[in-house]
Formats: sequence, C-alpha cells, structure tokens
Amino acid sequence: MEKPSKIGPAKGKLGVLLPGLGAVSTTFMAGVELVRKGKSQPVGSLTQIGTIRLGKRTDARSPLIKKFVPLAKLTDLTFGGWDIFKDNAYQSAANAGVLNPQDLEKVKPFLSTIKPMKAAFDHDFVKLIDGPNIKKGKNKYELALQIKDDIENFRKTSRASRLVTCWCGSTESFVKPEEVHSTPEKFIEAMKSNHPAIAPSMLYAWASVTSGVPFANGAPNLTVDIPAIQKLAHDHNVAICGKDFKTGQTLMKTILAPGFKARMLGLEGWFSTNILGNRDGEVLEDPGSFKTKEESKLSVLEYILQPDLYPQLYGKMCHKVRINYYPPRGDNKEGWDNIDIFGWLGYPMQIKVDFLCRDSILAAPIVLDLVLFLDLAQRAGMRGIQEWLSFYFKSPMTAPGLYPEHDLFIQSMKLKNTLRWMKGEDLITHLGQEYYD
Ligand SMILES: NC(=O)c1ccc[n+]([C@@H]2O[C@H](COP(=O)([O-])OP(=O)(O)OC[C@H]3O[C@@H](n4cnc5c(N)ncnc54)[C@H](O)[C@@H]3O)[C@@H](O)[C@H]2O)c1
Repeated sequence: MEKPSKIGPAKGKLGVLLPGLGAVSTTFMAGVELVRKGKSQPVGSLTQIGTIRLGKRTDARSPLIKKFVPLAKLTDLTFGGWDIFKDNAYQSAANAGVLNPQDLEKVKPFLSTIKPMKAAFDHDFVKLIDGPNIKKGKNKYELALQIKDDIENFRKTSRASRLVTCWCGSTESFVKPEEVHSTPEKFIEAMKSNHPAIAPSMLYAWASVTSGVPFANGAPNLTVDIPAIQKLAHDHNVAICGKDFKTGQTLMKTILAPGFKARMLGLEGWFSTNILGNRDGEVLEDPGSFKTKEESKLSVLEYILQPDLYPQLYGKMCHKVRINYYPPRGDNKEGWDNIDIFGWLGYPMQIKVDFLCRDSILAAPIVLDLVLFLDLAQRAGMRGIQEWLSFYFKSPMTAPGLYPEHDLFIQSMKLKNTLRWMKGEDLITHLGQEYYD
C-alpha cells in the first residue's frame, strides 16, 4: 500500500453505528459521554491517553497520539444502532449491569435518546435469544437493502459527515467460508436465495461497505473476513478490520506467551477456564456460538509460540479453553489459567493466573479506538483490511496467505509505526547504535 499523500481533516460529526446495543456498546457510549462531561477518564484508550515517540530518544518528542494524527474528537461523536430488543441504550445498559447506577444516572438523558433500529436477525445463528425488534423481508438481500436505508437515514438525521460501523452484536454460530462468500456477485445471489451460510452480521457488513462506511468486527464471526466483502471494501475504498475484541484471558495470553518464547521457556500445557454471567455468556452456551469463540481463542498460542520452529519447547503443548455460563457473576468474569511451563534441563514449573476482570470495561476503549482509527484510515485513503489494528483483536484479519501476528508487543509496534508512516516520520526500529558513535 502506498503512503497516504494527505489525510483529510476530521471535520464535522462522526456517526458511530453499532449493530448490537448490549453490554459492550452501551458501556462504550456511556463512557464517551461521561468523559465528554468531564466526569471520568478514558482509561484503556490509546487514542485518548497514549503518546507516540518520534525521532531519537534524545529528541524528547512524544506527543499525544490524538495530537499527532487528526482524529475525530469525542465531542464530534454521535451514535446509532440496531438490536433485536426495543430497549433504549439506557435500559439496555441498566440490564447489562456493567456500570453502577450512579454513573448511569449521570448519562441517563443522553443514553435514553439512543433507540435501536430494527435488527436483521436469524435465530439459526444466535439460538439462545429472541426479540421483538426484527426486520421483515422476502429474503436476506431485502434485509440488507433495509440496513442500507437505515444507514442513509442515520447519515441525514444525525448530520454526520462520516460514519463508521462496529459490530457489537452477539457471537453467531460457526460458519466456514464457502463458495457463496467468494465473490460479490455470488454473495448477492446467495442473499437473494436465503443461503444458510449468509449470517446477519454479513448483511450489516455488506450494507456498510457498499455505502462507503468502514466496518470493524468485534465478534469472532466471519462477517467481513470473507473474500466477497474484502473485494467490495477494495472497490468502494473502504477500510475494514476484525475480528473479536482482544480482552480478558486472550489479552493475558498474548502478553505472557511472547515473554515465554522470548526467554526460550517451554510450554507443556495451558488450560483456561472462565465463568461469566452476561448475555454474551448465555449466547456462548450454545455449542455453535461457542465453537466460533473457541476457534478464535485457540489459534493465538500456535501462532505466537511457533511449535514448528521450536518443536522441543512447544511441539507437545496442550491448549484447552472452557467458557461456563454462570449467571451470578454477571459481566464480572473470572478467568483462570493454569500454565505448565518448563525451564533449564526440562524442569517443570507452574503459573496460575486468576483474572477477575470486567469484560465490557476492557472492550469499551477498544471500540472507541477502532472507531477513531478506522475513520482516520478512511480519510487517509487506506482501503481494505487494516492489519495495523490487529492490536485490538483475538483473530486479526490479514491478507490471504499471511499468518496473523498475535504478539501484543509486535502489534503495538506495528500500530505506532503505521501512524509514523502515515505522517512521514521515521519508523522506530529500536536499533539505537547511533547513541554509541
Ligand atoms: N470483552 C468483551 O466483552 C468482548 C470481547 C470480545 C468479543 N466480544 C463480542 O462482542 C459482542 C458483544 O458483546 P456483549 O457483551 O455486548 O454482548 P451482549 O449480549 O450484551 O450484546 C449483544 C447484543 O447484540 C444483539 N444482537 C444479536 N444479534 C443481533 C443482530 N443480528 N442485529 C442486531 N443486534 C443483535 C443482542 O440482542 C444483544 O443486545 C459479542 O459478540 C461478544 O462475543 C466481547
């Protein structure tokens, strides 16, 4: 890809479209509003509090990322969304129970105005929930056209100059890439014939991309990770990225595993189990939805540890992931990891991680950063898969034939170097020989 010759200014409002007004998206919107009102801090967001070093270590140039690249301001964000339930964003946030009532009360008037548009939904893809706020149409193509209308209506009524979509809907049942996903033409035919391999999230993706709206996928479903949508993204000059927000246990894995590998420590096994009680956990009780999540969670260690290159360290590694729906826990998940490592002469050791995390608190700043960075990429003319945003995903999308980079520290370097590259600054290699001349 060529370096952007110029980046368009972030003028006017940025409309954020969210399929799925559940725990993550309402925590994100409530948080943006609390920060805008000066009542809270955007902790966890690189775009809001991260800095970027430019030039040599002796140059002392480390501007805030939001000052270095032209990002939309929080005050310019405006929100819309779809859900199968009719609850407005306040009611939905109250149901999700992530934020405490005192915080929610402060943003009640704002959240109450965000009412979900009717969803394109297919019970076959999310078996354990059902709702009344659903579009009707002859076939999937008609539903996709209705989503396109929603997007244009939102564009008009919100007076946004630019839009971004971020899928925050439930995890859908596992589907493999098929022939119908291979080209835009076959994809349209498949929508018209109600092909079972066309998931609702793909309809939102198709509608967004063909409307010139960038799309981020926060769930492990394929969604934009199919050749048909990628070709359309290319043809319509639209930026896309995915998939599956990297939070909780997988975030920990991609922090710890690169450390073991860097020190050439072996790994015999990694057993991960979770209890969670939110709606996401309920959906993941269904084996189809769990399989989609499992695939996303399992691939991480293989890629980071490269057992083919280090068979003596990782060739026999056993990796298991369990998710258990346990309602009393709500959104406050607990994830246990038992890690069996070995060191010098093969002597075994164990590490136990017990992460009492808050899923949506970790996911909300990711949504914010993705929205702002995708909008930036779009204004810089960067179309198709944005691999530099891998930092935020459990299963990063890559060009065909390229393996994904899962190591959080490589991903972070890649993200920052991409920002430097966009602005014509020197890339930072950390070589540093010049300090010793
Ligand atoms: N840390 C995290 O919370 C985290 C991490 C990684 C991925 N994710 C993914 O993000 C997504 C959202 O998570 P959540 O905790 O907010 O879940 P949630 O269940 O609280 O919210 C999802 C919402 O999507 C709605 N929905 C389902 N199908 C829809 C459709 N076709 N159109 C419109 N709306 C639809 C549901 O009614 C629900 O309100 C899930 O797919 C989850 O797996 C979350």
